[in-house]
Amino acid sequence: MTNTVRTQVGIIGAGPAGLMLSHLLHRAGIDSIVIENRSREQVEQTIRAGILENGTVDLLAETGASDRVLTDGHRHDGIEFRFGGEGHRIDFADLVGRAVWLYPQHEVLKDLIATRLRDGGDIRFGVTASAVADADTDAPRIIGTDADGAPFEIVADFVIGADGSRSVAREAVTGSSTGGYFREYPFAWFGILCEAPPSAPELIYSASEHGFALISQRSETVQRMYLQCDPELDPTSMSDAEIWDSLQQRVGGGLIEGPIFQRDVLRFRSFVAHQLRHGRVFLVGDAAHTVPPTGAKGLNLAVADVRLLNGAIQEFYRTGSTTQLDEFPERASKRIWRAQHFSWWMTSMLHAAPGATEFDERRRRGELESVVSSRAGRQYLAEAYTGWPFVGGDSAL
Ligand code: DHB
Repeated sequence: MTNTVRTQVGIIGAGPAGLMLSHLLHRAGIDSIVIENRSREQVEQTIRAGILENGTVDLLAETGASDRVLTDGHRHDGIEFRFGGEGHRIDFADLVGRAVWLYPQHEVLKDLIATRLRDGGDIRFGVTASAVADADTDAPRIIGTDADGAPFEIVADFVIGADGSRSVAREAVTGSSTGGYFREYPFAWFGILCEAPPSAPELIYSASEHGFALISQRSETVQRMYLQCDPELDPTSMSDAEIWDSLQQRVGGGLIEGPIFQRDVLRFRSFVAHQLRHGRVFLVGDAAHTVPPTGAKGLNLAVADVRLLNGAIQEFYRTGSTTQLDEFPERASKRIWRAQHFSWWMTSMLHAAPGATEFDERRRRGELESVVSSRAGRQYLAEAYTGWPFVGGDSAL
């Protein structure tokens, strides 16, 4: 016997997109159920990026999703680009009057889960979706198994695939589990967490002749750092001393070292699904698109998707109109492709590709010089990094 439950919006995935959408809908009196195949502990402990755009922070704070982002997060008014042995500050405050916040993704998730549960939200951990059916009808279904492995089904007015890069909802939308525009990069990042105080007040993006490094932060006592590496690198193959030597070499020294307690390799991919909607099924977040990590757009873009979709679903329940739902794919795509371009651009400008010619490398150096030496160049970067404002009623941008 299949256990069937009914709700207005069925959401697959308790990541930033799914939880934020559930929270925003709840504030408008719209019911949702969020299912997630991982446990709450796994969701709250997965290490991801740590930079929130100005608009993401505003949405978290203004809708009561997180009180902590403003107290425990750190505002950063700029970043440093380092190359040719010199540092160049991109001063966000001066260039665009905006900032970013260092507040790790898993803290955002802890806040969203706590907020949903406080508000009586229905989040079901350990529940696995295997397919989405009846997208073309006004009662689409999520088919799966519950935490005990028993058949389980959600029937809803809308189904949202917020189920990450290995989305099962994608097939119901694009006709295939992989259907999309895709690009892979011939390098990756080796990421570490270490116990040490911050080495610098702001993030350092360093493009050295030894490869790229990013010096990020997590707290007063924990730091996050990345080294460009081969995608096949075994993260256990380098000793702590080798990692530190490599990081110091790539930033020109001065890093405060400490014990490394976590290592991972992040692959670089760009992906946008061919379709974001089929009937009453929508894709958001990583299910709809993946960006390479440089520039930290992933979570922010997921939140931008659901800001827009929330407005469209609210309009539907308020007025019966499907205008905003119909417009969602085109409006969301604008920001998605701008973020795709920015992430690709930052990645290409800061990393030497294996096999790059001397011409390629000198051209890339020319590009870096152009950006940092021109106010217009720095401003362009600052606009994108801090996040394009959401203007007026057009929450797409
Ligand atoms: C972090 C990750 C990024 O990709 C980035 O551009 C900046 C910061 C991070 O994990 O802290």
